[in-house]
Formats: sequence, structure tokens, C-alpha cells
Amino acid sequence: MTFRNDGKLPPTAKIPYGGDYNPEQWPDEVWDEDHRLFTVAGIDTLTVGVFSWSLTQPAEDTYDFTILDRILDRAAAEGRQVCLATGTAALPPWLAKKYPEANRTDFEGRRHRYGQRHNFCPSSPAYRRLATALADRLAERYAHHPALLAWHINNEYGGVCYCELCADAFRTWLRNKYATLDALNDAWCTTFWSHRYTGWAEIEPPSALTEHWRGPDHTAFQGTTLDYSRFTTDALLGCFLAEKEAIRRHDPETPVTTNLMGMFRPLDYHRWAPHLDFASWDNYPPLDAPPTRAALAHDLMRGLKNGAPFWLMEQTPSTTACRDVNPLKRPGELRLTTFQAIAHGADAALYFQMRASRGACEKYHGAVIGHAGRDDTRVFREVADLGRELELLENVTLGARTPARTALVYDWDSWWALEISDGPSRLVRYVDVVHAYYRAAREAGADVDVVPQTADLTGYDVVLAPALHMIKGDLAARLEAVAARGGTVLSTFLSGRVDEHDRAFLTDVPGPLADLMGIRVDEWDSRPAEFVQPVHLGESVCEARLVFEIVLPRGAEPVATYGADFYAGTPAVTRHPYGEGEGWYVATALDQPGVDQVVRRVLARHDLLGPYADHPTVETAHRAAPDGTRLLFLLNHAPEPARLDAHTTATDLLTGKRTEEGEPLTLDPLGVAVLRLH
Ligand code: GLA
Ligand code: ZN
Repeated sequence: MTFRNDGKLPPTAKIPYGGDYNPEQWPDEVWDEDHRLFTVAGIDTLTVGVFSWSLTQPAEDTYDFTILDRILDRAAAEGRQVCLATGTAALPPWLAKKYPEANRTDFEGRRHRYGQRHNFCPSSPAYRRLATALADRLAERYAHHPALLAWHINNEYGGVCYCELCADAFRTWLRNKYATLDALNDAWCTTFWSHRYTGWAEIEPPSALTEHWRGPDHTAFQGTTLDYSRFTTDALLGCFLAEKEAIRRHDPETPVTTNLMGMFRPLDYHRWAPHLDFASWDNYPPLDAPPTRAALAHDLMRGLKNGAPFWLMEQTPSTTACRDVNPLKRPGELRLTTFQAIAHGADAALYFQMRASRGACEKYHGAVIGHAGRDDTRVFREVADLGRELELLENVTLGARTPARTALVYDWDSWWALEISDGPSRLVRYVDVVHAYYRAAREAGADVDVVPQTADLTGYDVVLAPALHMIKGDLAARLEAVAARGGTVLSTFLSGRVDEHDRAFLTDVPGPLADLMGIRVDEWDSRPAEFVQPVHLGESVCEARLVFEIVLPRGAEPVATYGADFYAGTPAVTRHPYGEGEGWYVATALDQPGVDQVVRRVLARHDLLGPYADHPTVETAHRAAPDGTRLLFLLNHAPEPARLDAHTTATDLLTGKRTEEGEPLTLDPLGVAVLRLH
């Protein structure tokens, strides 16, 4: 496998352990106690200054670094390292008052007044100038500070603005992209509904006041809305880049990142990836999501830098606060989710947050240290125990890569295009489809790289391309090349439908994938969520829902068939020999057992089923360290013990215990083993 653009992580001797620390919110005496407890828990890394703009710059012409100096100096004196935030994610009140245009205008066209956070217009010159100046000052002051480990620009970039400044910036962005109005009119299909533009100034951001009719996903012009999502991605990236450039003026070395949010639809992180020195992200999985959901996000984040490790920048040690109900992580769960992150490529394990804030909306958010400052709480004990285990690992995992033979193509454009489309179905959710295939591969024991459409696919045996609605560039040819040399490519319903501008291909469906799949999709039936179509797959019958494409084989053979309706007996899954390999097409949303069966057949063809594929609650993940050490993480997601037979001789780095091949290997409930393979 070739890796390009794989960036640069902060050099550390072990996995950095710690998290967001905001001591500016409490009195000095407490700082002593904080550091005493950090030492007890093995905390060596503090993320500092994420929301301190109004303290560090109390007025436009006044900077005050007194508190930040003390926080960093204290960290250095205690031997701790700092991930230093630029703090530009929440406007100080004076800025919002003095420059009202720095506040965002929402989808309904309302210019917001001061409040909340993540509240700035990305096109506001005042915001850009002042945020950049702050980053510049911070870098000038702290570039050579002994505690500085990494730069953390802003925080969780996101949100869309529809103000006049953004409208103008959008028009400029469009001019750069299309050069002529003819090209834009052609791309957006503006002859439809009399939309031909004759001047750039006529173009409006797509909002509730213009092209949209029921909300952000209901647009009359998909091309326009897609471009606004791309523009927003680039506009916020522009803010990041301006700050990064300011930092680089004083500090050419220290790695720079910003905390991303995994499968976050509004921003196409693949457009950001080249500009991050290393990827980092905040893991707050949806409640009740299976463990593969967080795993998919980890692998997506690892894919940003071509497989290089990333940082887990935030997770809660116990509970969130922003949801209607906020369950606790059960005993052992924090350890399990942390090792899951490491198993998938995290080279840091950081929390939000080190000590609970006293007031405002996050006062009940979980923290390593609670309001009472105790070290005898369950959460503190679990954090401290984990700190000791991470010390045991020393540097073994750092820089280790995932030796995946399976790739899954993840594409923000397809995600957007699919979910803003009128027809065939509003019920198909991109992440659900992608996750079903990812889950099937992971539970079968395959390591998976989650990659963009532009990724080099030459190193993979299997490429999964579910719901690949939009096909860009030479992707179809590269997928054909995978199959031609013996690999297997799998795609699904609603793939190969549109070009980069969301224009239908003027060919049979699935467009550029048709040759590889050896099929033609003639029609598609979309039905309500409760409608179930039986699908005959091998010896079993599984269930399918939402969309049923009617497939005419053109060289492919049926693997499964529909069981009902006027298309009963026609193919629901096909397999097409292509070169030395195969193209598989799944024409409907199969239930998970159906997806599992199809994916396992594909993996089996390449001998990619893992040794514990029959233990669905045991997750396996490999990492290969720079010195050649091969690691296998075993994660038991069940509340009962998992009894395995060791498939190879290995030593558990957490217990020092060696297990010979064939010997019993038991994982505790929610237990973890980090095996060094012999
Ligand atoms: C996000 C933010 C943090 C905090 C946490 C709470 O990840 O980055 O500042 O608000 O959520 O879960
Ligand atoms: Zn704006």
C-alpha cells in the first residue's frame, strides 16, 4: 500500500493522556489540587485555551496573557505537555457588538445577535482579521514554550452562514470554479424552471428564502445546494488556514490540527485533510449505536492522512450533558472505548474534560475530576487505572499502521447528493448504508481503510463502495482495475447515478459502474419504511427495505432474488466476473444478516475472514508498528466473558501473559487484550 500526504504527528514517548483543561474558570488553590490528581492519574497532556478569547483579548487593542502564561508555565513545571488552542471558536462579546456582521445569519435569513459559541461568519473580514491576529500573538508568545506539544486551531468547525458577505464570497468561489456563467448554468441545469443566470450577482445562497422549501435537505436545485456545502467547507477551511499561516510565521515546526467530528455531514473533511498536519477528532457516538459506528468514524479519520495515526482529541470519561438523557458509561466502558480508538489508530487519548465547570450548560458534563475534587470516585479510579495501562504500552503503538486489505469508499459529495435528492426515497440515510457494509466486514474480522474517491486503490483486495451516488474523475476506471487484477468491488443501490454536478448520467444505471457490475438497472421502486420485501439469498431468506432496484443482468449472475411483487424472481444481488476478479451489486437495502452474508462471501474469496469471525461481539483490529511489531487488539463488547482459542502465539502487553496457539484465551466482560503476535 502506498501512503501519501500522511502528515506529521507530535513526537511523544507514549500515548498522550489527558484532555481539555480550563483552570481559568476556578481559583488558584484548585490548580494545585488539579495537578496533584493529574499525577495520580498519569495525565501528561492538557488541551488549553479552547474558549479563552474573551480573557486573552478583553478589548480590540488589549491582549492579556497573564492567565495563559501561568497555565502553560505550571504545566511545564509539572512536566506536562500542552495542546494549545487558538481559542477562536467563540466570539468575545465586544467583537460581536462592534462588528455585528461577524455574527452568523441563519438558514431562515435571521442575523443572530451575540450568544452561544461557534457563532462567527466565516466570510467576516473583522472575524478573520481578529482571529488571525490572536493566533499570531499566541504563536509569537508560545512557539518556544517548553510545554508546547501541538496547536489546536479553533474548535469543532461547523455551521453555515447565509449573510450578504457569504453570498458575495460564494459568488467569488463560483467564478473561480466555473469561470463563465455558461459553465455554471450548464452544471446546475438552470434551464429547468427558468433559472438561467445572466449575471453573477443574481446568484443567491440556497436557503429557506431562496431555493429551499422544507429545510436544508429540500432544494429545488441540488447543484446549487451542493456547491454551497462545498463553499462552506472551503470558507471554514479558509479560516483555519489563515490561523495556521499566522502560527507558521513564528513556529515552523509544531504540528497543527483542529478537532473534527468524525462522520459530520456539513463539512467535507477530505477537502481539509491535506491541510492538517495530523487528524484529530471528538468521539461522542450516538446513544445505543453498535461499537462499529464509532469504529467507522475512527477509520474515516485515520483515512484522512492516508492511514497515519490520529489523535482522539475528546471523549467523555462518563456522560455527556447536551442530550435529553445522558447515560453513564458503564464500568469498564471507558477503557474499552479508549482501547478501541487506539486499536483503530489513535495515538492519543484525551478527554473532555479534566475538571467540571461550575456553571453554564456543561456543568453536568462528565469530567475526570468532579465539582468536589475527589480522587475516590469510580470515574477517577477508572481514568487512573487506564493511565497506568497506557504507561505500560510505552511507545509500542505509536506510529503503527493498519494493514488493511479492504477499503471502503466514503464520499461526502455522495452523502450530500443522496440526502438532498427528491426521489427515490427520503428514508435512505447514507451513513446507515455505509455502516451496514462496514459493520459486516469488521464483524467478520477484516481491517478496513475508509478512503476518499481519490485514494490509491492498488493495494486492496476488496473495495466496498456502498451508496456511491456520485462518481467523480477516473474512479470507475480505478475500480475496474481492482477487479481486473483479481480484486472484488462491491457497490449497492443508488450508486453510479450522478456526475460531480449532480447531473444524471445519460446512460443506463449504474452509469460508469455498469460495465464492471454487468447489469442494467431498469427501474426502482421505493416503499414506506414498514414495507418488507423478502429476498432469497442462498439457503436463507432475508429482508429488504426502502428501495428496490429492478436489475437486468448483462453478464452478471444472480446471487439473490426478490421474493414478492411484480419483480419477484428478478435479481436483488448480482455477481459479475470481471478480468481476474468480480463486481458485486446489491440492489436493495438488505437487513444486516443479508449484508453480512454477502460481505462474508466476498471476504472469503480473498481469505479475509478473521480468526474470530464467529464471535460477533469480539472486535479485532491489527496495527503494524514501525519496528515491525505486529499487534492484535481484541475487544470484547459483551457484558459476558468471551472464550476464544488463541489462533496464534502471542503476548498480552497489558498483562505480560503469553498464550500459545490453540490455548484458551478468555476476555473479561468488556475486556481488552493487546497482543504482540510472535
Ligand atoms: C464538544 C466540544 C467541547 C464540549 C464537548 C461536550 O466536543 O468541543 O467543547 O462542548 O463537546 O460534549
Ligand atoms: Zn456570513
